[in-house]
Amino acid sequence: MTNSTSTKNIRPADILRKKRFGGELNESEIRAFVRGVVDGSFADYQISALLMAICIHGMSDRETLALTLAMAHSGDMLDLRRIPGVKADKHSSGGVGDTTSLILVPLVACCGVRMAKMSGRGLGFTGGTLDKLEAIPGMRVEMDIASFERQVTDIGCAIIGQTAELAPADKVLYALRDVTETVDCLPLIVSSILSKKIAAGCDVVVLDVKTGSGAIMPTLEDSKKLARTMVRIGNLSGKRFSALITDMDQPLGNYIGNALEVEEAIDVLAGRTGGDLRDVSLQLGARILTGAGAAATVEQGVEMLAAKIDSGEGLRKFAEMIRAQGGDPRVTEDTSLLPKAKSTVELRAGEPGYLSAIRTADVGSAARLLGAGRERKSDVIDPAVGIVMHKRVGDRVRRNELLATLHVGERSDRIGAYNLLQRALKIGPDPVSRPTLIHDVIEAEDA
Ligand code: URA
Ligand code: CA
Repeated sequence: MTNSTSTKNIRPADILRKKRFGGELNESEIRAFVRGVVDGSFADYQISALLMAICIHGMSDRETLALTLAMAHSGDMLDLRRIPGVKADKHSSGGVGDTTSLILVPLVACCGVRMAKMSGRGLGFTGGTLDKLEAIPGMRVEMDIASFERQVTDIGCAIIGQTAELAPADKVLYALRDVTETVDCLPLIVSSILSKKIAAGCDVVVLDVKTGSGAIMPTLEDSKKLARTMVRIGNLSGKRFSALITDMDQPLGNYIGNALEVEEAIDVLAGRTGGDLRDVSLQLGARILTGAGAAATVEQGVEMLAAKIDSGEGLRKFAEMIRAQGGDPRVTEDTSLLPKAKSTVELRAGEPGYLSAIRTADVGSAARLLGAGRERKSDVIDPAVGIVMHKRVGDRVRRNELLATLHVGERSDRIGAYNLLQRALKIGPDPVSRPTLIHDVIEAEDA
C-alpha cells in the first residue's frame, strides 16, 4: 500500500455515511474498516450496514483493489520464494461435479510447473476439493506451511486447506454476508476470492468462473463481468491472473459426491473417461502452462497435458501426492478401495424425449440431502454417497431409461433427494443443442 495516512482517527460512522451516499472510500478508510473487522472494533451491525451500502452503490476499481489488498494483508501472507520456479494456483467459483483440481494439479506438476494449491470446503450445493480428498482413506489436508513448501518443492504439487490465518477478514465478512443477503455482490465476491489467492503467494492464478444454473452468477453477462473484474484487479495486484468462463448448466462431470468424484478424476487421469470434465481440466491446465511460460500456446499446453494422461505419469503423480499426504495411493489403481455407499436407487425416465435442461444447483442440493455436502459448516459429510448421472443435456431418452443412480447411506434423505433430482431434470419432446462448454477466455488485455 502506498498511502501511509494514519487510519487511527477514522470512525465507523464517517465511513458508513460516505458510502451510504455513494461516495468513493479512500485507501485509508478501507484499511481502517478491514482493521476494525479483524480486531473487533467495528461492531457486526456496522460491518453489515457497510456491506449493504457496498451492495447498493458498488465499488470503483480503486476501492475494490484497496479492499482486496487490505483483506489479503489482514493475516499471514505466504512467501513461497523458497520454492524454486513459478508457482501456480487455480480457483473455481464453485459448481457441481466440478473436480478439475484433482485432475489438473498432478498433470500440470508433471509438466514442470509447481502447483501450490490451497482449497476450501463445500458449502450449500457446491462441492469442496478438501472434502473430496478426505474421501481417500488416510488423506490429510491440514499441513503446516513448512511441510507444504517441502512437498511442493519435492514432488511438484500439494493441495491443502487454507490455514486459519489466511485472510481472516474474509472469514468475518463472509459469515456476515451469508446472513445479510450480500453474498452475490461483485466487489465483495472479487475481494473475497482474490484476497485469499493473493495471500496464498502463487505467481500465476487461473480462475474458472462458472456460468449457468449451478453457478454463483447464473447469467453469462454477470459471469463475464465477474471474470473481467477479477482478472483486472488480480493483475493490478502484481500477479498473473487469467480466467475461463465455463458451463455450469449441467454438472461438469457425471459423478457428484466426494468419493464418487475422486473415482471420476482417477478415471480421467487413467485415460478411461473423456468428456467435459477432461476438456475443462486440460483447458485450465494449459492456461497455467502458458501463464508460467512452460507452453508456447494453449494448444501445445493441452497436448502436453494429454500426453501425461497417455503415459500414465499423471496418475502416478496423483498417487505420489496422495502418499505424501498420508493417503492410500492404491486407490489410483483400484477405486473399489474408496468408500462405497450401502445401496443405490435408480431414477428412470417417465416419458421419452430429450434431456433438455438441468437445474444444476438442485442436483447439487439433492447430493447434499444424501449427505454429500453441508448446509451448515458443522454438518458431517458421508464420503460414500452421491449421484451418478447417466445422461447429459441434449441426449435422447427412452421411456424408463436410467437417468441417474443415487448412492445412498444410512443418514440420507433418499426421498427428498430423489424428488428434487427428478424435478431438476427436464425432459422435452424436441431435440436441443448441447450447451457450449467454454464461453469465453479473459486474459489481462481483455479485462
Ligand atoms: N467464494 C468465495 O470464496 N467468496 C465469495 O464471495 C464467493 C465465492
Ligand atoms: Ca478473450
